[in-house]
Amino acid sequence: RDSHNIRLAVIPGDGIGREVVAEGLKVLDAVGLKLETTTYDLGAARYHATGETLPDETLAELRGFDAILLGAVGDPSVPPGVLERDLLLRLRFELDHYVNLRPVKLFPGVEAPIAAARPEDIDMIVVREGTEGPYAGAGGVMRRGTPHEIATQESLNTAFGVERVVRFAFEKAAARPRKKLTLVHKTNVLTYAGDLWSRVVERVSAEYPEVTTDYCHVDAASMFFVTQPQRFDVVVTDNLFGDILTDLGAAIAGGIGLAASGNVNPARPGSESWAPSMFEPVHGSAPDIAGQGKADPTATILSVAMLLDHLGLAGQAARVEQAVAEDLIGRQTVWASRSTREIGDDITARVAG
Ligand code: NAI
Ligand code: MG
Repeated sequence: RDSHNIRLAVIPGDGIGREVVAEGLKVLDAVGLKLETTTYDLGAARYHATGETLPDETLAELRGFDAILLGAVGDPSVPPGVLERDLLLRLRFELDHYVNLRPVKLFPGVEAPIAAARPEDIDMIVVREGTEGPYAGAGGVMRRGTPHEIATQESLNTAFGVERVVRFAFEKAAARPRKKLTLVHKTNVLTYAGDLWSRVVERVSAEYPEVTTDYCHVDAASMFFVTQPQRFDVVVTDNLFGDILTDLGAAIAGGIGLAASGNVNPARPGSESWAPSMFEPVHGSAPDIAGQGKADPTATILSVAMLLDHLGLAGQAARVEQAVAEDLIGRQTVWASRSTREIGDDITARVAG
């Protein structure tokens, strides 16, 4: 692959997904790379029109891109679970996005709900396992709707799956100035899975003597995210804990309009296990504000920066992040409510200029 020529699949999705993705693409264009994009109309509208969520041919085509940019999918008119399971989770599982990467970073100028928090206190990255745990779909139901109903939902943790995400987290930690990794779990109650996670972290830590390792129960971690966020640098955790903890992370770092994420397949390009990674804002389709130009596109633009970084374009990623940082500082002084497009235009101008 020519590193300056990106073949990008775009799934704008539903609601504000379409609005914010348009701004993300504008910023990406301004970076000055050769960009070929193909748009896929997956989501609620497609489901209503054809009954399809993710046709096999589409999935096969998606495998051929360098990366995927997703807005958000979902609408109250679609039965719960359909798009989550058959589209989003299927993409993560099929493309083996075993790392769900979510930075929690308070930019200067952003108002945080924790009054005492300074930008230097909130700068961590959560590495959430993306393909196993309670989200693997193991379980079942018997006697549904009767008083004797039995529902099980098992958490699957494989030595292979845990080790690869833990290794990724150690690599991340080793590359950051603080070099600290915290395992978050609930080892005192979820003893079987917790024991596996703990042993893997301990074993892999021997290969990273420069990284300090720490452990925190998930309930305590929820408290410390708010009271002592400076405890955390890289956090590695399972699928469910990571899902919940990163919404909390979004809240402490200035809100859902700023929270970016990557569903990452870290395999080497060209290797057999490689598949395109997918970048998306943490938020959903926000039906309550869709179509009104009120959505903040910043989370999507920061997701675009993560996409560039993932493709080895660290300089371009830094330019986008810097443009966002400058825009955020501006929001503090010049309070004006800008539309989705205006925010996108302003950040695009900073990237271009
Ligand atoms: P949501 O994230 O769409 O909205 C929650 C609240 O945050 C709403 O009040 C919304 O207006 C606000 N909000 C979200 N993004 C914003 C932005 N960029 N700027 C300003 N305000 C923003 O979550 P909700 O309401 O629980 O879900 C709505 C739909 O989105 C559902 O169908 C859900 O399944 C889907 N969803 C999809 C996701 C995805 O595609 N990865 C993730 C989360 C939800
Ligand atoms: Mg979530």
